[in-house]
Amino acid sequence: MNSKNLSRRQFLAAASAGTAAVVTAGQIPAFGDAGKKGGKLAVNGGKPVRTKAWPTWPIWEKEDEERIFAVLRSGVWSRAAVVSEFEEKYAEMMGVKRCLATTNGTHALIVSLKMLGIGIGDEIIVGPYTFIATFDSIMLNGALPIFVDTDPETFMINPDKIEEKITKNTKAILPVHILGAPANMDRINAIAKKHNLKVAEDACQAWLAEWKGKKCGTLGDAGCFSFQNSKNLTCGEGGAIIGNDDEFMDRCHSFHNFGRPYGETALTLSGNIRLGTKCRMTEYQAAILLAQMQRFEQQTKIRGENAEYLTSRLKDIDCVIPMKFYEGVTRVAYHMYGLRYKKEACNNVSRKKFLSALSAEGIPSYTGYGAVNRDMWFENTLNSPNFRKVYSKAQLDRCRQANHCPENDQLCEESVWFFHNLLLGTKSDMDDIADAIEKIYENRDQLT
Ligand SMILES: Cc1ncc(COP(=O)(O)O)c(C=O)c1O
Repeated sequence: MNSKNLSRRQFLAAASAGTAAVVTAGQIPAFGDAGKKGGKLAVNGGKPVRTKAWPTWPIWEKEDEERIFAVLRSGVWSRAAVVSEFEEKYAEMMGVKRCLATTNGTHALIVSLKMLGIGIGDEIIVGPYTFIATFDSIMLNGALPIFVDTDPETFMINPDKIEEKITKNTKAILPVHILGAPANMDRINAIAKKHNLKVAEDACQAWLAEWKGKKCGTLGDAGCFSFQNSKNLTCGEGGAIIGNDDEFMDRCHSFHNFGRPYGETALTLSGNIRLGTKCRMTEYQAAILLAQMQRFEQQTKIRGENAEYLTSRLKDIDCVIPMKFYEGVTRVAYHMYGLRYKKEACNNVSRKKFLSALSAEGIPSYTGYGAVNRDMWFENTLNSPNFRKVYSKAQLDRCRQANHCPENDQLCEESVWFFHNLLLGTKSDMDDIADAIEKIYENRDQLT
């Protein structure tokens, strides 16, 4: 075979097998960047694939500063017109009737579950591959999380395993659109309808993600979002609940404002209609969000295009499997780019060693969630005096038994994330990621 007809992968395979000696120095440039990916790994003292800095996060511009100063100078810093403007614009962007801004995503989840009527005695179906706040919102409402194992291909709650976990106590399903990709909402909504359950979406990482053209957060009874510092749309700390049901949204508004009636603008010191809490967004938070929203669609588009290109580059490298999406997914928000690292395809080099090698090549990455469902908080909460007072031992044991999620455990051992700022660059930045992975894979013998 003429070396000019070899694919880049075939060339590198041939090179690592020692047959590349047939390729003369003059032919090598035909493979473009073969030199970048061949040779000594950076972790062993070789030349890194990349030394250039990555785009940083968060990004702000003059407009963000101007909006913050306008709030400062107005002297009105707690919830008022700027928050209302943000709510209107966010609802419009999401294609939904109402939005309620909150202090953060955790509070958005707690408030919406409570106002969906969830409380002591209820069981909530949830997947384990998520941030701890998802579980906190269930148990802080006095309910029990009933875990359903993860679909390792998509990182989402496995819809095939939901129905077997439903009992007469089940009140809701809480799908999490993790890393910014939609869960299988057709299946989840059909199961919820059949069993008369509420659906609260944890869309804290899924701004503008879509299922069959409809935005995540608008597909169930309530959609919850986070604007924490790391998030694609951020103001440092912040959150939102969105929905189309006015009565539900009125209840949420009231609950997040000490239980004052929705629409009550005066600083009333009586006349409250329910127990409540206070998790109102400040004018500063809303001001930053309004500025960030100007750039958000364009940033989401760039992340999406880069991620798709990266997947096209990674899909043939044996030791990594990019996260897959259900057929109904029409847009992914890419809070993280997720993949599974298969060490058995890489001389059994551990994920830790693989990621150290990747870091040395100039590519930052994360291992992602551990098996958070098995951390101490779970047993400590089930064992707390209040939970033991209101739940029978049989109920608590059933909750413990459901917390056996081997597919999720495996995913937590294998997952690798690239943070969304890496996706804000260029196609050539994506090539750096893919080249580095390819280089490590082709030279894996250097790691063993
Ligand atoms: C999936 C998920 N749920 C809930 C939250 C909680 O949001 P926040 O940190 O804004 O309270 C986060 C964010 O951290 C999240 O990623």
